[in-house]
Amino acid sequence: MKIMSVKTGLLTVVTVLVFFACKHEIPFPAGTTVVTEVPNPGTSGRTCSPDSVYFANEIQPMINASCAMAGCHDAVTHEEGLNLTTYTGILKIVSPRNAGGSKLYKEIIRTDKDRMPPPPMPAMSTDQLAKIQKWINQGAVNNVCDKCDTTDFKYSTAIKPLLATKCVGCHNSASLGGGVDLASYATVKTSALSGKLLGSVKWTAGISAMPKGGVKMPDCEITQIQKWINAGTPNN
Ligand code: HEC
Repeated sequence: MKIMSVKTGLLTVVTVLVFFACKHEIPFPAGTTVVTEVPNPGTSGRTCSPDSVYFANEIQPMINASCAMAGCHDAVTHEEGLNLTTYTGILKIVSPRNAGGSKLYKEIIRTDKDRMPPPPMPAMSTDQLAKIQKWINQGAVNNVCDKCDTTDFKYSTAIKPLLATKCVGCHNSASLGGGVDLASYATVKTSALSGKLLGSVKWTAGISAMPKGGVKMPDCEITQIQKWINAGTPNN
């Protein structure tokens, strides 16, 4: 009788390490490379279509700032078993092409006390809700594109939307990470003049690297912030 040698195949699991500094005791050193499942937006070479919503550019950053922060749905706490710091984790509560049937969407559009993010955290804005709805209904794909334009560094068209997507969920009057509020022009200006706004996105040593737990912003977006600050932080 022939003895079958069963060769055990080694399944190599490539673990995507999201170094998520969610607890204050876990340091997030400036300059640390964060590896995620998606390429850094701005490096894809794909032009953005105005009709599409892109996961890496907008959805993951919004969810990072509103849901995946320390103590909530991050890699360490994963409240209710949900780690929303990765595309795979987010897809567990999404039914592609069916926003109305997706737990993610249902939880963020609630108007009672069980709404996510939970009160007193602010609800996601109508613009953010619409983007998440559209992204799900477009198939909830893991997509990315290049949309950044360094010639636009106006507060209203460049800086404010950038901060709204990537920062405000953790930096508003109900959630003052590091005492920093980025929800209004006046408070953004204060942060810019202190040098910390730019230092945080450039991952300058001695300043906490931002967006916390996320990928470093593409150079183009950092340049937009730098140019706006150099222009005197106008409310334009
Ligand atoms: C997931 C939540 C989260 C996101 C997203 C986030 N921050 Fe923060 N931020 C924090 C916390 C918490 C602190 C307090 C310091 C710390 O814990 O590292 C902080 C601190 C800061 C500070 C003060 C840094 C210092 O060393 O004094 C600045 C400035 C800042 N953030 C800017 C930003 C900007 C700009 C963005 C968007 C690009 C952003 N943050 C996104 C949570 C966040």
